[in-house]
Amino acid sequence: MEKLHLNLGINSYDIKFSDSFGELLDALREINAPKKLLIVTDTRVRELYADEVYNLLRGAGYDVKIHAFPEGEENKNIDSIMGICKACIDHGMDRKSMIIALGGGVCGDMAGFAAAIYMRGIDFIQIPTTLLSQSDSSVGGKTGIDFAGGKNIIGAFHQPKLVYINVSTLKTLSKEQFVSGMGEVIKHGIIRDAEFFTFLKRNSELVKALNPYTLIRLTKTNCAIKAAVVEKDEKESGLRAILNFGHTIGHAVESAYDFKMTHGACVGLGMVGAAYIAQKRGMITAAELGEIEDILTLYDFDTRVKLSEPEKIYSFMLKDKKRINGVMKFVLPTRIGDVTQVTDVTKDEIFAAVEYISKIQ
Ligand SMILES: NC(=O)c1ccc[n+]([C@@H]2O[C@H](COP(=O)([O-])OP(=O)(O)OC[C@H]3O[C@@H](n4cnc5c(N)ncnc54)[C@H](O)[C@@H]3O)[C@@H](O)[C@H]2O)c1
Repeated sequence: MEKLHLNLGINSYDIKFSDSFGELLDALREINAPKKLLIVTDTRVRELYADEVYNLLRGAGYDVKIHAFPEGEENKNIDSIMGICKACIDHGMDRKSMIIALGGGVCGDMAGFAAAIYMRGIDFIQIPTTLLSQSDSSVGGKTGIDFAGGKNIIGAFHQPKLVYINVSTLKTLSKEQFVSGMGEVIKHGIIRDAEFFTFLKRNSELVKALNPYTLIRLTKTNCAIKAAVVEKDEKESGLRAILNFGHTIGHAVESAYDFKMTHGACVGLGMVGAAYIAQKRGMITAAELGEIEDILTLYDFDTRVKLSEPEKIYSFMLKDKKRINGVMKFVLPTRIGDVTQVTDVTKDEIFAAVEYISKIQ
């Protein structure tokens, strides 16, 4: 079984890669999982995969229950957390019991946060089922919920004991969600790994056909890139900020358009915007900007969307919680495979970037 070790001292854990749930029991034995488990999932994933995982665990003698919260980002809130904690109490979970997050990034963030606060913290593992969660959100230990209009405004760092990735779950994912996940995947190539960027360019057919071998290689490389950044900067005091490439404009577009576009689609636009600023500054060539746009197009992103209100987008950028002491941070590419963080991007540059993204060709 393919695996990756995330080295975080006493918080270290393995990420395992498979095309089935067949090796889950072995993986649980390896971490000495307790007998009492709660599977936390959303209503959609409940229908698709919860029974299979439940039956597997039950058959192996685990005392397991399922708790499903209503799917969707709008339910990533304190009420759902209270629901999970109540389910823990009803199932008689103590400080040695464990939560299993089975689902996408919303599920991982919420189940992880509930695990961080229930009885002052219990163990949890992640079984991510979206491309975004298999290549990004399940790694790194950030957990949390949205509150008072702010995304991930309440949360905690809480590392899982194990991440078990079954790439065959991606077969049921909608195309829109798959493309959204590819936003973070492509981002990882641009910020850290030119070779992986080339792999993505050459293997788009296999990736889109959900070839299991290709998907295992893709998710493993992604997790390795994110893990390497997280290992150096677990609590986001420096290097981890490069993961925000494409997110400064991306988050603002997401908010300005009322979360009607997927996160990945917005990050895709944000990456084009940031790359455009970099190209205008002479940090990358026009050919490199073209390469970034081409790979996004290859994976079915819209690289041009009519964004009618640059002022509105800019105003959301001013509200970004990643700003510290009023300074807007931008991650800009210096080549395919490397980026740098700058704090001097001007309003004019941002407007020009938004205009560039809006220019339908
Ligand atoms: N913790 C982190 O480091 C981190 C990083 C990036 C994003 N995030 C968070 O992740 C969340 C987004 O994650 P997401 O895109 O996975 O969203 P999600 O969890 O809402 O999943 C998207 C949709 O896909 C459905 N789904 C999940 N797995 C499926 C499958 N295998 N087949 C069919 N449908 C399936 C879900 O029910 C949901 O409707 C956001 O809340 C974001 O803040 C966290």
